This record gives sequence, C-alpha cells and structure tokens, in this order.
Amino acid sequence: MKAIVYNKKAYPDKLVYSDIEKPVPNDNEVLVKIMAVAVNAADYRSMKMGIIPKKKIFGADIAGRVESVGINIQQFKPGDEVIGEIADYGFGGFAEYALAPERLLVHKPAKISFETAAALPMAALTALQALRDKGNIQKGQKVLIIGSGGGVGTFAIQLAKYFGATVTAVCSTKNVEQTKDLGADFVIDYTKENFTKSDSTYDIILAVNGSYPLLACKRILKPKGNYVMIGGALSQIFKAILFGWVISFGSKKIKFLTAKPKQKDLEFIAMLANDGKINPVIDKYYPLAKTAEAMQYLAEGHATGKVVIKVG
Ligand SMILES: NC(=O)c1ccc[n+]([C@@H]2O[C@H](COP(=O)([O-])OP(=O)(O)OC[C@H]3O[C@@H](n4cnc5c(N)ncnc54)[C@H](OP(=O)(O)O)[C@@H]3O)[C@@H](O)[C@H]2O)c1
Repeated sequence: MKAIVYNKKAYPDKLVYSDIEKPVPNDNEVLVKIMAVAVNAADYRSMKMGIIPKKKIFGADIAGRVESVGINIQQFKPGDEVIGEIADYGFGGFAEYALAPERLLVHKPAKISFETAAALPMAALTALQALRDKGNIQKGQKVLIIGSGGGVGTFAIQLAKYFGATVTAVCSTKNVEQTKDLGADFVIDYTKENFTKSDSTYDIILAVNGSYPLLACKRILKPKGNYVMIGGALSQIFKAILFGWVISFGSKKIKFLTAKPKQKDLEFIAMLANDGKINPVIDKYYPLAKTAEAMQYLAEGHATGKVVIKVG
C-alpha cells in the first residue's frame, strides 16, 4: 500500500510517500481502508518533539471503510463506514490502510462524506471535552473562545451554541465573517482589539490558540469561572500546567485539558454532525502524496478550520 513514512534522514521532507506492506489485523483489530484523514497539531508537534510512532506513520483522524476484522471484533463488520481518532494506538492514518481497536472507532455519520467526516474526531472531541467536562458549560453562560478560527475553535463555537451559551470568539480579520456564520454572538478581531483589557467577563474561557497572559485572562473570568487551556504556544501550555494550580487559588479555576478519544463522545459528535448541528469547516484538501505540504501548512498556525488528506 501507499503510505507517508517518516524518515529522519530524508530530504527535503522527512515524510516520504512510500510503498509498504498492507497491515493485517490481529484478533482485536479492525483494518480500515482509509478514504480521508485529517491533519492535526498532534501530528506535526509529535514529529517536532521526536515522538515518532512505532510504525513511523502519523495521522490520527481517519474516515474509511472496514476492510476486515479480527475474530474478537463485535461492533464492526467489513463494509461498515467508520471514523476514529487513532493517535492513542500509535497513529497510522496517513496511509491507504490503518489498524484500530474497535474502542477508537464509531460509525461514520451517514449524511456526510468521508472527507468531511475525517475532520471531526480530534478537533470536535477536544472542543466537546473542554466545554462540557472542564468548563462545565451551562445554558445561558458567557463563553470566550480564544483562537476560534482553526480546527478546534470552529467546533468550539458550534458546540458552545449547541449547549445554549452566548459566545464571544477571538480571531484574526480573515476569519471574522466565518466566525459569525458559525454562530458566534460577538467576534473580537485580535489584530484590532485586546480582549484582555475589556470590561466583559466570562463564565468559561477556552484558550485554544494564541498566547495571552494567564493573569490577564483570569481578570476577565467571572467568580467560579473556568479557564480551560487547550493549546497554543508550548511555553504557555507549560506555564498553565506548572503554575495553573497556584493561579487557581480562589473561585476562578485554571484547568488544562488532555482530550481523550472516548467512543461515547465520538458517537455524540457523529450524531450532531449527522443532524447538521455541527458542520466541519475545511480549509484545504491535499492528496496523500502531498501530506508533508499539508503538515507544513497547518504548522504555520493560521489554517481556517481543518486540513484534510483525500486518500481513497
Ligand atoms: N489539549 C488537548 O487535548 C488538545 C487536543 C487537540 C489540539 N490541541 C491543541 O489545540 C491547539 C489548536 O488546535 P487546532 O487544531 O485548532 O489548530 P489550528 O487548526 O492550527 O488553529 C489555528 C488557528 O489558530 C488561530 N490563531 C493563531 N494565532 C492566534 C492568536 N494570537 N489569537 C487567536 N487565534 C490565533 C488562527 O486563527 P487566525 O488565522 O485567525 O489567527 C488559526 O485559525 C493546538 O495548539 C493543538 O496542539 C490540544
């Protein structure tokens, strides 16, 4: 099969379009014929940090058709259309076929294409778990989403609206119209306005992207509010992990999310997507052979929604 294999000595890209053996599922694995796979920060960040998957193939967010299943697989059969987030299982999505345990897969929403469905797993799960589990989102609350223009942010806007919140979203000028279209009640263009200096306060702040000082964000958090750090610059993430508990004294909490690929949550996301309650925003498509280019584009940090590789 064709796959994008990491080779640290390869030049100019370390991600090489290669021919390798098609994998064979063991008793507890599902073999998925990949139709589309989305690129995530987890791919390029792991590569940059030298955390290379055992099989040297990145790619977490898969959408495809079940090719064959191991003897212990109960939830899926050949021909089923599935999506999944397989970072937890050693990645492997940038390929024509990938292996996954059934706990990481769910049925693809029937009404949307493979290319659209591939955009869902990691970004939408992250937005869901940040708002619901860490943010404890409640109807009528005020939510601030910092970095609303990218993969996680575009889902966070739609999910916060789904949960009945009033959403203020922070993005650059080029994403303002899209952010309004996705349902944000208020949009702050960070190139023109510093939201940390405003008088507005929020029940939940999702720090998806962009590094804004923790104390400045805490100031605009309501008492009993939750600041949820999702991503951004690594230095800022480390600060939140190291000092978040100190800054959390009092009723305003600073929390860090580590999203988990829970099957129940992905089923919920798939249901919302099938019902049109959340719609993936896709910035660009690439063919599998151009995955290195796609990774480079995403790593520049200004994608508008998701970047998807068409494989099938
Ligand atoms: N904690 C977890 O479990 C978890 C899970 C998944 C992802 N993450 C992390 O979450 C982050 C976001 O992921 P993603 O998939 O959404 O990334 P992405 O798609 O690459 O997001 C890029 C977006 O960030 C926005 N941005 C850049 N600089 C900004 C600034 N100064 N202020 C506000 N927005 C800014 C850009 O919008 P503009 O073009 O408008 O600037 C762009 O749309 C990454 O750091 C990723 O590693 C964490």
